[in-house]
Amino acid sequence: MAISSTRPNSLPDLRRVLIVGSGGREDALSWALQRGEELETVWITPGNAGSGQHGLDLAETDSRGLIEHCLGNDVDLVVVGPEAPLAAGVADALRDADIAVFGPGADGAQLEASKAWAKQLMQDAGIPTAGHWAVTTEVEALAVLKQVNRPLVVKADGLAAGKGVTVADNVGEAEAAIRDAFAGRFGSAGAQLVLEERLQGPEVSVFALCDGERIVLLPPAQDHKRLEEGDRGPNTGGMGAYAPAPLLDADGLELVRQTVLEPTVQALRQRGIDYRGVIYAGLMLTADGPQVIEFNCRFGDPECQTLMPLLGAELGRVLQACALGRLDLAPALQIAERCSACVVAAAAGYPESPRKGDAIQLGFDSDAERQLFHAGTRRNDDGELVTAGGRVLAVVAQGASFDEAFASAYRSLDQVQFAGITYRRDIGHQVRSGG
Ligand code: AMP
Ligand code: GLY
Repeated sequence: MAISSTRPNSLPDLRRVLIVGSGGREDALSWALQRGEELETVWITPGNAGSGQHGLDLAETDSRGLIEHCLGNDVDLVVVGPEAPLAAGVADALRDADIAVFGPGADGAQLEASKAWAKQLMQDAGIPTAGHWAVTTEVEALAVLKQVNRPLVVKADGLAAGKGVTVADNVGEAEAAIRDAFAGRFGSAGAQLVLEERLQGPEVSVFALCDGERIVLLPPAQDHKRLEEGDRGPNTGGMGAYAPAPLLDADGLELVRQTVLEPTVQALRQRGIDYRGVIYAGLMLTADGPQVIEFNCRFGDPECQTLMPLLGAELGRVLQACALGRLDLAPALQIAERCSACVVAAAAGYPESPRKGDAIQLGFDSDAERQLFHAGTRRNDDGELVTAGGRVLAVVAQGASFDEAFASAYRSLDQVQFAGITYRRDIGHQVRSGG
C-alpha cells in the first residue's frame, strides 16, 4: 500500500480497492476492476444500490474518513471518480497518508476546475484550441465582445456542474450570458469568465491514463448530451455514448496524442505537477484538425460505462501503475476490437426536476456482452430498488458492429422498467445503418 521511494521492478499486490463516487461511472469502474484476477474487494463510497454490501457511508470529500477506511482495511488503491473531490484535494490528502491514488491532486485538477488556467496551459504549450480572453469583470468582458463583435462562447471559469457554458448564436446572447454570470448565476464559479471563439465540427472524447509522465490512450468515445432525439432539447449529463468513435481513426488518435496529450503532460510537468489520473480531452474535429474544447480531470460519464467493457482484466493493474508513477511496470492494456453501445435511462422530469422513489424492475444481470450499471438508484426501507436521481441507470452492450451492439442494448433496456423511464431511441445514430 505504501508508495515506496525505492524503484521496485514489479507492482505491489492489488487486492482491495476503494472507489470514490456514486454514479454510473463508478459502478462501471467497480465492475471492470472486479474482473482483475487478484481482486478481493472493491468498496464504493457513497455508491448507489448497485454497490450492494460494498457501498460505504463516507462522503466523497471526507478525506479523514477515507484515509481511516483505507488504513483499517489495507486498501491497495483508491480510484476517485468525480471532479469535485479531486478539485477539493482528496487525492492529495490520501497520498499524504501514503495511500496509492488514481486521480490528480488539486493542482492537476485545475485542468477542469479552472478553464482560464487550462486555456493558459494550452496556449503556453501550443495545444490547438479556440482563441480566448480570460476576464474578471463585466466591463472587461463587454469591451472584448464589443471589440470582436462576434458571438463568442461564454464560459464560467470554475466548476458549474456542466451548466457554465453558453454557445451564443448572436452577440446579444453572448452579452446576456456575460451579464448573467457577473450577476452571480454560477456563484463564485462565474466570478471569472473565459470568452472563446466559436469552433465548428463534431465532438469526440479522448481519455489518457497518465502516471505523471507516460500515457495510455483509450479508444475515442462520443456521447450524446442533449435530452431529446435528434440531439435536441436541454443539455444533460449525457444520455448515451458509443465507442470506438470512427470519427477519429488510428491516425487521428495518434495526432491527438502528439498534438494534445503529450504536450499537456509535458506542460503539467513543467509546472511541477505530477498528474496521476485521467486526462479527458473533449475535442472538436474542425476543418483545421482536432482542437481542445475542454479538459476534464476524470472519466466521462457515460463514456466510462461504454469503454470499461472493452478493456481487459488488467485495467486495475494499469490504474495502480498510474497511481504509483510506474506505467512502465503495467501489463499492456488489452482493448477488445468490438463496438460498445451505451443507453442511459433517466427519471421522469430529468434534467430539471427528476422524480424519485419509483420502483425499478430489472430483467437481466451484467455479463461479458451486456451490462447494467446503476447511477441514481437506492434501496428504500422495504429493500425495494427505487429511482433516486436524474440518470437512473445505463445499459451497455457490445457487438461485432454498432448495429448489433445497439440492438442488444435496446433489447436489454426493454427488460428494465420503472414509471416515467425516459431514454433516447437514437443513441449512436451516427454509426447505425439507417441512423
Ligand atoms: P464544455 O462544458 O466546455 O464542454 O462546453 C459544453 C459544450 O459547449 C461543448 O460540449 C460544446 O458543444 C460547446 N462548446 C464549448 N466550447 C465551444 C467552442 N469554443 N466552440 C463551439 N462550441 C463550444
Ligand atoms: N459525458 C460528459 C462528461 O462526463 O462530462
